[in-house]
Amino acid sequence: MLVGRGIVPVVVIDDAAQAPGLVAALAAGGIRCAEITMRTDAGIDAIRAATDSLGDADFVVGAGTVLTGADVDRAVDAGARFIVSPGLDDEVLARSASHDVPIVPGVATATEVQRALRAGLDHLKLFPAGVLGGLPMISALAGPFPQVRFLPSGGVSPANAAEYAASPHVFAVSGSWMAPRDLIAAGDWAEITARSRAAMDLVGA
Ligand code: 3PG
Repeated sequence: MLVGRGIVPVVVIDDAAQAPGLVAALAAGGIRCAEITMRTDAGIDAIRAATDSLGDADFVVGAGTVLTGADVDRAVDAGARFIVSPGLDDEVLARSASHDVPIVPGVATATEVQRALRAGLDHLKLFPAGVLGGLPMISALAGPFPQVRFLPSGGVSPANAAEYAASPHVFAVSGSWMAPRDLIAAGDWAEITARSRAAMDLVGA
């Protein structure tokens, strides 16, 4: 679902009416997916509005900051096509499986990687990647877990995105810098498109 898409923007939307403009701005910059977080009241309506606006465009909208089984239900009902969690939660994994929707849970330790593998998942978000040690952490985890592919998130920026993306253990990079909350609130689509294009150039996707 997200493999080969290069960058997964993490977006925080305060007004669902901004969602169609946001995804259009990201797409205009070459980005082909977005994780719309459920950390605001507008998150669910934003997922629905974004999904409705996209038609059959090759752009995948998913839900982020999904913390409970009920969140998964609401996200899928709104049209989310993938689920991202900051951590590894059994209820979220089970509910995602019951909806047959791809889930990328967050991990921060080898123990959590093992739990995810036991649940049948090998594409995992490393969060918060920068604080955990960045690429050296990914390389260290790749020793015992060569089959795992990571989505580093948290502290990924234009300064390090290319290096992360070049790792054979990374399937995409994730971050908010293309579409930070203030630019979305301001409706600054031109700036978001420019940042998106620059970001896609960086990761060579
Ligand atoms: C998040 O959950 O907010 C993401 O990991 C994005 O982190 P960033 O703002 O450091 O890119």
